[in-house]
Amino acid sequence: MGGGFPAAFSHSWSPPIPGATVDLRGFPVAQTAAMHSFRYVGRELFCEDVALSDLVRKHGTPLYVYSQATLADHYSKLDSALAPLDHLICFAMKSNSNLAVIRTFADLGGGFDTVSAGEIQRVIAAGGDPGKCVFAGVGKTEEEIAFALKQGIYSFNVESEAELARISKVAVRLKKIAPVAVRVNPNVDAHTHAKITTGTYENKFGIQFESIEAVYARAAKLPNLRLRGLQMHIGSQLTDVEPFRKAVEKVAPLVARLNARHGFDFFSIGGGIGIVYKEALASGDASWWKTAAGRKILTPDLYAKTLVPLLKPLGLKILLEPGRFMSGNAGALVTRVEYIKKTGQKNFVIVDAAMNDLIRPAFYDSFHEIVPLTKKSGALVSSDVVGPVCESGDYFAKDRPLPKVGEGDTLALLSAGAYGSVMGSNYNSRSLPAEILVRGKKAAVVRRRQVIADIWANESIADWQQTPASGKKAKAKGRK
Ligand SMILES: Cc1ncc(COP(=O)(O)O)c(C=O)c1O
Repeated sequence: MGGGFPAAFSHSWSPPIPGATVDLRGFPVAQTAAMHSFRYVGRELFCEDVALSDLVRKHGTPLYVYSQATLADHYSKLDSALAPLDHLICFAMKSNSNLAVIRTFADLGGGFDTVSAGEIQRVIAAGGDPGKCVFAGVGKTEEEIAFALKQGIYSFNVESEAELARISKVAVRLKKIAPVAVRVNPNVDAHTHAKITTGTYENKFGIQFESIEAVYARAAKLPNLRLRGLQMHIGSQLTDVEPFRKAVEKVAPLVARLNARHGFDFFSIGGGIGIVYKEALASGDASWWKTAAGRKILTPDLYAKTLVPLLKPLGLKILLEPGRFMSGNAGALVTRVEYIKKTGQKNFVIVDAAMNDLIRPAFYDSFHEIVPLTKKSGALVSSDVVGPVCESGDYFAKDRPLPKVGEGDTLALLSAGAYGSVMGSNYNSRSLPAEILVRGKKAAVVRRRQVIADIWANESIADWQQTPASGKKAKAKGRK
């Protein structure tokens, strides 16, 4: 599969940068100047050294494909940019929780930002260390808190005083000391999409800046809590460094005061670094970052150059919780054109992936660049790319100039590695797609395509619905 390493590919590939990270299993992580590993080699779209059309022939569509080199490269870039700080990169696994993705970051020494007991269990299942997990979320149940405590997580990121009291109570019952960090809401506008902004008083997250010191003073009196740090997260998909700078400038003096009183270990500055969606393919090439569009986008270097001088004087471990930056452009959703339908002015390209596979366009009005797996020549056609689900929100692009495609052609929706597969559902009784991890010339199925009958495997017919006429108990047909 993939057919070797074509000469054309090696020309477009950026050379490794010296001083690269080595993962825990000894694999060198070649840090490159490129931003991701999806590119055309001749007329064929490749992920690393594997042609996506080969993957389609073998595994069908819809198909998620992830590049391990890209995942590792992002980790490595952030890791080296933050080298002047004692730091821990906790991958926000809500963005992509496939075990193989988790394992990639675990092997690099990374930690995890988790939001449920299920996510902590995933880290363990992938061979990661729960001791490097932070546990966030506004609605932790007692069971989840008990589970996390027993696993020895690094810290709870606490969202309310009621939660502090609950964690204390559970810790007393289990005779454990619970490490906690309160999430401060710095009331800094991240100027991002309303559904992913979190750092203002308009939303449910964290405790307001002005109340934090009093909350810590009260928390210090609760039994079995260790006030280990402070956490913040202002929003997602930030491509400008200014909101980060403003938030850190505002919160760092607070951290210093609290540290003096309570003896902190860390300050978590959250996630939120944005990625390129519009010119996703072009941004894979290092040269794009020198263009006018490229120079506007936040890089790990600018992020670190701006924040390290503000953070270093604290003398604390700095935690980061990046999700999208790590996994977003490491993944693509591959789909096949089922029909072309022309109605009035519209050219509908009906594909076999749908909003249940990738909900971001329907949910956040997000843009995903769409490119054919095999390059097409000729004029572009204004197209609406839509899925088969019975919702008019089931679309991937509207009035988008695209190459003329026909039935059976295959397309890739780029930058789909974050908040893609994880937000998938079985709506319309559609099975979840397979997921593939590519590393160099190798490709592995890291999630099997869901068998249709598995969708209702946990369902049954109520006793009173059995058909007496047949004299037999009707059984819901489940998994074979
Ligand atoms: C508390 C917290 N940390 C980290 C993240 C990850 O954000 P991103 O994927 O933008 O880096 C989120 C995203 O919702 C979050 O709520």
